[in-house]
Amino acid sequence: MPARVLDGKALAERVRGEVRDEAQALERRGVRPNLQVVLVGDDPASAVYVRNKTKAAEECGIQGDTHRLPATAPEADVLGIVDKLARDPAVHGILVQLPLPKHLDEERVLLRVPARKDVDGFHPENLGRLLAGKPRFEPCTPAGVVALLAANDVPIPGAHVVILGRGPTVGRPLSVMLSQKGPRADATVTLCHSQTKHLHMQARVADILVAAMGKARFVQPQMVKRGAAVVDVGINRVLDPTHPKGERVVGDVDPAVAELAGWLSPVPGGVGPMTIAMLLRNTVRAAGLQPG
Ligand code: GUN
Repeated sequence: MPARVLDGKALAERVRGEVRDEAQALERRGVRPNLQVVLVGDDPASAVYVRNKTKAAEECGIQGDTHRLPATAPEADVLGIVDKLARDPAVHGILVQLPLPKHLDEERVLLRVPARKDVDGFHPENLGRLLAGKPRFEPCTPAGVVALLAANDVPIPGAHVVILGRGPTVGRPLSVMLSQKGPRADATVTLCHSQTKHLHMQARVADILVAAMGKARFVQPQMVKRGAAVVDVGINRVLDPTHPKGERVVGDVDPAVAELAGWLSPVPGGVGPMTIAMLLRNTVRAAGLQPG
């Protein structure tokens, strides 16, 4: 039997409906949820992500603007915009789209986003709270992965989760979240990375395998246990002369894995829409934290 589809598009739509209701409830209390996005440079993929995020926000009744700066913008200009948004009481969420151009110090810029407006969940205070088991804003992609598993009744407590990729936005926080106590956690987590020995064997014992290393179609059927849930976080652009754009997006998982996995998240339409939905959820939460 082919894998059940972990349909992120459908679930994200449901979450966006809840966010819309929450935004309306806040409006009735005189609070208009407001998300501001800072986009530096002209990376086409980042431009698409930002457009998708702001369009989804608007559709949920979240207001906001995108602040675009050239790739050569001095750090003082970027910090100036972030500081202005940080001071503005009408702004509830600030998102600095990553990656930033090389000459900018990403850590310094992200630290200027106040923790209470950090809807990405990247601020050390929010990461510390996550580690302490008292999350305020969970990072959006890991939160989307957990929501996708839970909504599809994939058993998480007691499961052996193997995460491929220890990056700060997905693998590392997800390993923390799934190893906490709780009904959508309580897993045993193995966090694999570039120095992991016998990676294929590690992957093969997973009840839940999360591919977040950014390598096109890296996960092959022989790396997957029959019946496992496989979550594909990858967004890789590969050349494809048959495609109108000359390239297309593929995940970190070979679609042939569907033949033996119990569940599989597609790319596109899996984790991607969930990341955006979780961002919107964090934004209405931020608006609820600081009315006015
Ligand atoms: N670039 C790729 N993913 C993300 C994300 O989740 N947040 C931000 N700010 N930038 C990103």
